[in-house]
Amino acid sequence: MNKQTFLKVPIILGCFLLSFSATIAQLPKETEEQKTTRMKWWTDDRFGMFIHFGLYAQPARHEWVKKNERISDQDYQKYFEQFNPDLYNPREWARMAKEAGMKYAVMTTKHHEGFCLFDSKFTDYKATNTPIKKDLIKEYVEAFRAEGLKVGFYYSLLDWHHADYTIDRNHPRSGKTDAEYDSLNKGRDMGKYRQYLKDQVRELLTNYGKIDIIWLDFSSPTGKYGKTRKDWDSENPLKMVRELQPQIIVNDRLDLEDVPGGWDFKSPEQYKPREWVQFNGKRVPWEVCQTFSGSWGYFRDEMSWKDSKQLIELLIESVSKGGNVLLNVGPTGRGTIDARAQERLASMGNWMKNCSRSIYGCTQAPNEFKAPANTLLTYNPVTKRLYIHLLDWPLSQISLEGYSGKIKYAQFLHDASEIAMSAKKSTTWLDEKSKGDETVLKLPVLKPNVEIPVIELILN
Ligand code: GLC
Repeated sequence: MNKQTFLKVPIILGCFLLSFSATIAQLPKETEEQKTTRMKWWTDDRFGMFIHFGLYAQPARHEWVKKNERISDQDYQKYFEQFNPDLYNPREWARMAKEAGMKYAVMTTKHHEGFCLFDSKFTDYKATNTPIKKDLIKEYVEAFRAEGLKVGFYYSLLDWHHADYTIDRNHPRSGKTDAEYDSLNKGRDMGKYRQYLKDQVRELLTNYGKIDIIWLDFSSPTGKYGKTRKDWDSENPLKMVRELQPQIIVNDRLDLEDVPGGWDFKSPEQYKPREWVQFNGKRVPWEVCQTFSGSWGYFRDEMSWKDSKQLIELLIESVSKGGNVLLNVGPTGRGTIDARAQERLASMGNWMKNCSRSIYGCTQAPNEFKAPANTLLTYNPVTKRLYIHLLDWPLSQISLEGYSGKIKYAQFLHDASEIAMSAKKSTTWLDEKSKGDETVLKLPVLKPNVEIPVIELILN
């Protein structure tokens, strides 16, 4: 090797390594403390509104209707041509959310059907080309911000409309065998779709000011015919998201579970986790997302609506395990929120008006406090107050074990009326000995007019 070639080798090698590392996206590094600080508003606020709005509001039988009924693009087109939510007034939605006690919102900008509610440069399949002729996302962002709510976007990774999106088992035209998929996907180029998704996410995170949360939904890391991080090139768009909006909070559905910085919170869906959600043996931020009635998009004939008490309990229970709730509304094709949802939002708001102190800024109670039967505990670590939520109204008294010496004062949260405490039960004709460490709270026979009454304990 002559001297010149000898010198060139490390240079060429260096260039190669450089270009190689440029293709592997590097997510910004962050310490645990920095992440906790970035997410602080979210873990304090606890309660948000999910909004699923799209063409599927018109068939009104689930946002997956195109897939569930294997509707062709041609037949689905009528919903695009008819889309005219003339009563769309996100200021009203924002007011409803706020009155319910919600502090943030996440709205679909594009769902699996591929229809964009925002004015994207990269497609014609968007609201501005339908009879409503508006960028609905722009109005949503402005309205929610004006009400002081944090603003989030949901963007579907799946796309049943894009011509390059390869058909898989989650697609309306799903097949059965490898050979069938090969022929269905002839000429489709996921590379182009990857670019499209990145371009659109860039638009969403550049054209609408500060965005507080983003949901990228979803991957199917198990199973042969679903899509994974390889299909989206997940780290690449995520890196862009973090660069464009360094404070943004990102969900966990990019299939980057094992990648540091690959997600901010766990997003269990439609069920109540048994305990504080963990990852690798450590408690992590989490948020349960729930519907009022089983469908995310407006579903006219669905009748299995949860009642207000179940919903309030869901919120309390999530906070009692250190989690958040994102509760979904599916607006109608006119752009209004269904009366059944409005009614539930209003009763949650009614409860929150007097009791939100046991929700905001609260979390799981320290282990030393055991929840009496039929109650849920939450705890505010700053004010050091403990909240006992009474799911079933007890008869005249409730006993706390292991609390003695810890309580300075007890009151109802809704009206700040004192609750008398004693170390002894009042018993007649039966001398039931108090257990070693028992504090008895004296309660009225009549349940206060609050869906789930809360006792506030001011601790020593
Ligand atoms: C699932 C569903 C989707 C819904 C979402 C909400 O991913 O596919 O329809 O938007 O969950 O979490």
